[in-house]
Amino acid sequence: MNSFNEEIAKAVAETGAFEKEQAQKLITVPPDTEHGNFTLPCFVLARTLHKAPKQIAEELAPKIELPAGISKVEAVAGYLNFFIDRKFLASSILEKISADGLNYGHAASNGKVICIDYSSPNIGKELAFHHLRSTMIGNSLARIYKASGYKVERINHLGDWGTAFGKLIVMYLRENLPTDQETLDALTVKELNVLYASFSKAAKEEPSLEDEARSAFSKLEKGDAFYHKLWLAFRAATLKELMRIYKMMGVDFDYYTGESFYEDKMPAVIDQLRQMNLLERSEERDVVKLDEYKLNPCLIRKSDGSTLYATRDLAAAIYRKKEYNFDKCLYVVDLGQALHFKQVKLVLKKMGFDWYDSLVHIPFGVILNLIDGKWEKGKTRTGTASLLRDVIEAAQKKILEFIDQKNPELENKELIARQIGISALTFNDLKNHRLMDVKFDWDSALSFEGATGPYVQNAHVRLCSIMRKAGYDVALQDVQFEQLTDDHAYELIKFLAQKSDRIRKACETDEPCELAQYALDIAGAAHKFIHEDRVLGSAEEKSRLFLVKCTQIVLEDVLNLLGLFPVRNM
Ligand code: ARG
Repeated sequence: MNSFNEEIAKAVAETGAFEKEQAQKLITVPPDTEHGNFTLPCFVLARTLHKAPKQIAEELAPKIELPAGISKVEAVAGYLNFFIDRKFLASSILEKISADGLNYGHAASNGKVICIDYSSPNIGKELAFHHLRSTMIGNSLARIYKASGYKVERINHLGDWGTAFGKLIVMYLRENLPTDQETLDALTVKELNVLYASFSKAAKEEPSLEDEARSAFSKLEKGDAFYHKLWLAFRAATLKELMRIYKMMGVDFDYYTGESFYEDKMPAVIDQLRQMNLLERSEERDVVKLDEYKLNPCLIRKSDGSTLYATRDLAAAIYRKKEYNFDKCLYVVDLGQALHFKQVKLVLKKMGFDWYDSLVHIPFGVILNLIDGKWEKGKTRTGTASLLRDVIEAAQKKILEFIDQKNPELENKELIARQIGISALTFNDLKNHRLMDVKFDWDSALSFEGATGPYVQNAHVRLCSIMRKAGYDVALQDVQFEQLTDDHAYELIKFLAQKSDRIRKACETDEPCELAQYALDIAGAAHKFIHEDRVLGSAEEKSRLFLVKCTQIVLEDVLNLLGLFPVRNM
């Protein structure tokens, strides 16, 4: 409701008592609408005017020419309290929603580019439950930035290069598995998981296997054709499964430029570091020292010549800057990697890239599970469910049981159950500030009451169902706005009016939880409105139905921005 704030400040400034900017800063929204929708304290003027604030407010009130949409101003105990004209608010907001549809509240293009690096799992194995966090926070931020006017480049920086692949190669050959192309093409991620596990087991007895894996990777990095063929097959097998899960979750990327993509781009970075005398030898490795920042050196190259995680991130940042000319590049990666991103930024700074500070690490906390009454980092209670696909399956199954009880005839119920299940997991991840650890337990995540995905989705379903039951489409000209001025309609419309502010705040703070809270606000006010103000069959049917329709549009988009499925039926 920023525009009101500004209009009021302008009107007050015209009396000459306040500067406009000053008034705008002082205006707040009181928690209780009895004191108006906006309030301006007059205390700051007491000293210059040599009058009591109470008197100042009383003298000013009659002089203010009320802007459109403000119905009255009251002077109370040194405050000027402004009241919104409910009918004006209803008509201006609902007209805007019906004109702009899902884009209502989105910003116009600002010409800026933002890269978002998210999900970015290490492949060669399956997605684990904890991968949900980066995936869904990044997915939501990508949508929020787009709605805020940015051009968004969504990047999956796959961990598709490194010793892990050396391990898989060693184990594959050791087990004498066939290496003809047909067999390789048919490899599945499950087989790779087994290989990975048997490597870990074998390496415990035979530690030299770790060295073997390292040299296998080094050989791969030096371009060995046979190893490259195996690597390609391992990569393809994992990617296939990865894509299946992303599709199920409704998550997209513009690029799958993983670590291997930078293989041919690293030599130039290393050369540049050497030419600038930034590369030093330490414990047989090439490093860039960061003593002046009291940080450990950034590792660039191992003794066998193989490159490291940081080397690839340096090459990736330089490549992205050149390719996309980003204003900001976000890395949605767990808090544990904070040092890594500090090091990468500082090395870029030492290399003279003045944009180093536009790389922004977006950290987040871990997922905790309730195990025997204690919150612990680790497996979920369903035992094996530490793989993301197992958790999704379990969520789907639990929601399906619920649907089978309440609405067994529902069409497409398997799909809808999966969408509600995934949304429940997502909402549980996004509802709090991202740095907080996520407490995951099945009962509260999947509940249809409280701050949950199913609760907000259910509000959306109820709105859709009223529209379906009405059986006709209602248009703006059918609405009598004075019928939307009672408390319940008004509370709901006030929330709808906040959409652009809430999106802006989520974008400025990189916090999807701002929109999760907004979804809860709308859902709460919508439930209340539907409950208290009968829609179908009432004398106000058309007006109320129109408010239902506008609320559905706003809620659908907010769910989209969070990466939740706005299901229409459950
Ligand atoms: N693959 C890494 C991991 O699983 C995360 C990569 C994040 N992105 C990046 N550019 N470093 O820990």
